Amino acid sequence: MKKYFLLFVILTCFPVVSCANKEYRVFDSFKNYEGSDAFATELLRADFLIQERILKILEKALILLEENDDSVTKKTFEEIIEVMSYFFDKCHFEKENAILFPFVKNVQGGLEKKDFLGQLLMEHISVRDRKRMLLNAIEEIHLGKKARKRIRKIGYGYIKFTQKHIKMEEKVLFPWLDELLSHDDQLALIERLNTVEVKDIDDGLHEKYSITIEKLENQLTVYSE
Ligand SMILES: [Fe+2]
Repeated sequence: MKKYFLLFVILTCFPVVSCANKEYRVFDSFKNYEGSDAFATELLRADFLIQERILKILEKALILLEENDDSVTKKTFEEIIEVMSYFFDKCHFEKENAILFPFVKNVQGGLEKKDFLGQLLMEHISVRDRKRMLLNAIEEIHLGKKARKRIRKIGYGYIKFTQKHIKMEEKVLFPWLDELLSHDDQLALIERLNTVEVKDIDDGLHEKYSITIEKLENQLTVYSE
């Protein structure tokens, strides 16, 4: 009975508080964590959609920087880095580092890919380091051609590394988890991940940074599907 009550609560509340909040285009595409075939990985995949939009914004900003376009300033990059910090570092990496990876290690068979999980953890650190390098580089944006070249190099490096990480999780981590986790595991994991989402939504962070993404897309004329 308790199990069915828990399922009811998750199915009733989750669409309201998850990244699929209909109010913002940023969060509009994923529903596969609902119903009897709920997969926690679908919730994490939803983060990738947002991240890919941010990477497109960064790429466009780097192209415009190369063209000396006035629409890209230090402030533009600071705003991009702010949404990166939220949707990559806080929203996604913390969910994986603090919730997903420890959860998986406690599931039977979860230690089989212990080294792989460690590698992903290290990649999260590397993504954060690359973001910090970009932040430092844009401090010198006013110093001319050489400084702009450095920003472009670090920026494209960030995009390439992050896309590779996302692909690795989509192609290797998630299919493995979908296979490994039982239905009860899935529901328990969704509930834990959801706790983080609820807090961020209540704090107004999802709303704040979604608006920033929309603004940057309009400003830089980036079109995402
Ligand atoms: Fe990750």
